[in-house]
Amino acid sequence: MAISIKINKTTQSRINQCDFENIEFGKIFSDHMFRVDFTDGKWGDPEILPYGPIPMAPSISAIHYGQAIFEGMKAFKSAEGKPLLFRPMDNIKRLNESAVRMGMPEIPEELFMEGLKQLVSLDRDWIPTKEGSALYIRPFMFATDDFVGVRPSNNYSFIIFGCPVNSYYPKPINVLVEEKFVRASDGMAGFAKAAGNYGISMLPTMEAKKKGYDQIIWTDGRSHQHVEESGTTNLFFVVNDTTVWTPALDGNILRGITRDSCIQLLKKRGLTVEERKVSVSEIIEAAKAGTLSDCFGTGTAAIIAKIAGIGYQGQDFMLPDPEKRDVSNWLYATIYGIQTGKLTDDFGWVVSVD
Ligand code: COI
Repeated sequence: MAISIKINKTTQSRINQCDFENIEFGKIFSDHMFRVDFTDGKWGDPEILPYGPIPMAPSISAIHYGQAIFEGMKAFKSAEGKPLLFRPMDNIKRLNESAVRMGMPEIPEELFMEGLKQLVSLDRDWIPTKEGSALYIRPFMFATDDFVGVRPSNNYSFIIFGCPVNSYYPKPINVLVEEKFVRASDGMAGFAKAAGNYGISMLPTMEAKKKGYDQIIWTDGRSHQHVEESGTTNLFFVVNDTTVWTPALDGNILRGITRDSCIQLLKKRGLTVEERKVSVSEIIEAAKAGTLSDCFGTGTAAIIAKIAGIGYQGQDFMLPDPEKRDVSNWLYATIYGIQTGKLTDDFGWVVSVD
């Protein structure tokens, strides 16, 4: 069934105010947003309208009880100027997995996809082309009942907006293994891209920053002996440039789309990828022995975030020179090359927008 989207174009584009050479991540927003509301048990009429404030009641349930989920995806521009989306169907499916976990309605895949494509097509001039840049796209859904009381909301809004961005981490990061706070444990919502999973990372990250680190590495809630993910990315540890360890999807970590792309690319290159429980002690032992040849985070925003050093129980373990790393440099060049259409996409990941 064809989806009809009402389009209300801005009369005053802000594009000339955007300095595409010096973009700060997450601070500049493209001209339009897509919106559709869920009321009376069904999704209503979708529209694209100028990006701007959304009126809401102080009692809106998302901000009291946390029924709020989101996605992160990116659009790039091909050499011919066509917008390219990277694995958008995976984001759509993941948003719906998050929705189910949070007791929220699923959004029809074709409605999400059509809204996304029409928004990206309309705001295509906002897709930056400088090396490392992209139009970051933020789809999100939140509960809008004007009601105080703990029960699932009856009304929801789904919105997509875009912001031109450069790399999330302009340089390699230092991370601290977190042993006090916990992000998720069995039966919780660790796999969901739920706003609250990020809310609870703020205090531990602030404390790690005070100690001079850029990010934390979450550990499991039972023993703090196994690594899970960082505050913003999934994690990979490379031993002797041949074997890669990454925490398995055990329900407590995010099913990263960049994570999955990296696993597929690494395997294709002939590396051994072990998706399993990864203990802090084996990472530290490998760092001490000099066999931990590479370590990085993966995510839509960061793509590949090289980890310069790991802090653990008062000691810092510095890893090989990030500039000279074989695996992470190759992975970044390969993924970004596929995303931007400069390298052949053998996996069918890229969806072009006409
Ligand atoms: C993403 O990578 O898309 C995220 O949602 C994480 C956040 C750093 C923006």
